[in-house]
Amino acid sequence: MKLFNSIDDLDLDGKRVLIRADLNVPMQKGQILDATRLNRIVPTLTDLLGRGAKVILMSHLGRPEGCVVPELSLKPVRGALEKILKKPVILTTDCIGQNTIEQIKNTPQDIVVILENLRFHRGEQANDPKFAQELAKLGEIYINDAFSCAHRAHASTEGIAKILPAAVGRLMQSELNALSAALENPEHPVGAIVGGAKISTKLTVLGNLVNKVDKLIIGGAMANTFLLAEGFSVGNSFCEKNMLSEVHSIQAEAHRCNCQIILPKDAIVTDCLVEGRRNEIYSVGFIPEDKMIVDIGPESIKRLIDDLLQLKTIVWNGPLGAFEYKPFDNATNIIAQEAARLTIKKDLVSIAGGGDTMSALINAGVQDKFSYVSSAGGAFLEWMEGKDLPGVAILRTKIN
Ligand code: 3PG
Repeated sequence: MKLFNSIDDLDLDGKRVLIRADLNVPMQKGQILDATRLNRIVPTLTDLLGRGAKVILMSHLGRPEGCVVPELSLKPVRGALEKILKKPVILTTDCIGQNTIEQIKNTPQDIVVILENLRFHRGEQANDPKFAQELAKLGEIYINDAFSCAHRAHASTEGIAKILPAAVGRLMQSELNALSAALENPEHPVGAIVGGAKISTKLTVLGNLVNKVDKLIIGGAMANTFLLAEGFSVGNSFCEKNMLSEVHSIQAEAHRCNCQIILPKDAIVTDCLVEGRRNEIYSVGFIPEDKMIVDIGPESIKRLIDDLLQLKTIVWNGPLGAFEYKPFDNATNIIAQEAARLTIKKDLVSIAGGGDTMSALINAGVQDKFSYVSSAGGAFLEWMEGKDLPGVAILRTKIN
């Protein structure tokens, strides 16, 4: 059953096509630190240009909250995209208004146009229908290729789709297909690896996952809170002492749903979170009072490898240890590399995304060896929470 219009369902020849992309790339002093999001929209752009469409990209950058902040101009993105596409790209002075209409009209058909930062206007985040209408004037067709912004009900992700004929772009389509293969229609047994620091930010994620997966593997500092809730001392480790009753509720729900929660059996501990710091292995239950857990230990790694061998699908969010400080990236690297090996052998479907996960997989050298690694942060987490994302939901209502 068709869930969305795709590029293939629309006649694009000679049409002005507005594409919502996520050009919100990490930047430092005007330099782009990671261009993954730009590289990933290339298939959609090439496809549209090949079909004779006039391509108009729109995006936010950062959170200027309705003010013009020159440091958050999309200028550096224009330059970077020009290099990637190997053809000229122009940036409009504003994203709406008569001047923008003129700038688009005066640009040759095969030159990509980027509209200046949408969030320089308050109407974008407020999902103001008048602002959506102003955007819609610039094109005849709307394509959403920004899954990573689909959790936002903004004018460019939701409002405009009510006005123009709409479809998903190639990137969004592959993202939705991958995510559906992971949690909606997966091959069982399914495992989820959830790491990161705080349970408090992932309560809904964990609550949804225990209903969907067969094994829930907990790593990162959030495992400390689970261990504490089971009565183990975690020494000086980061943990959330006020979340123990929430842990007990998740455990009870997991038990009810027949989902096995897997916690570390041993840990790498140190006295200070510094790169290369002296460290030791301790079994859970014997963590010294003055030391902190910074990674899972060798016995836990072995256990996780055995688990991976039994699984058919995994969804991964968050590192297993403090991977930014070597050698505390060890467990994350080994497990990521094993998941990549099984994926290449076609024994495993592996989907990862959210927050630090992409950086952790890049660090492990396997970012292109998983079935799919999403560049979405908040949207990936909200999807893991089981939410219907507004930018996706609206496109479902637009089938031809
Ligand atoms: C992201 O980086 O996750 C997206 O671009 C969304 O950005 P936002 O959290 O500022 O809405």
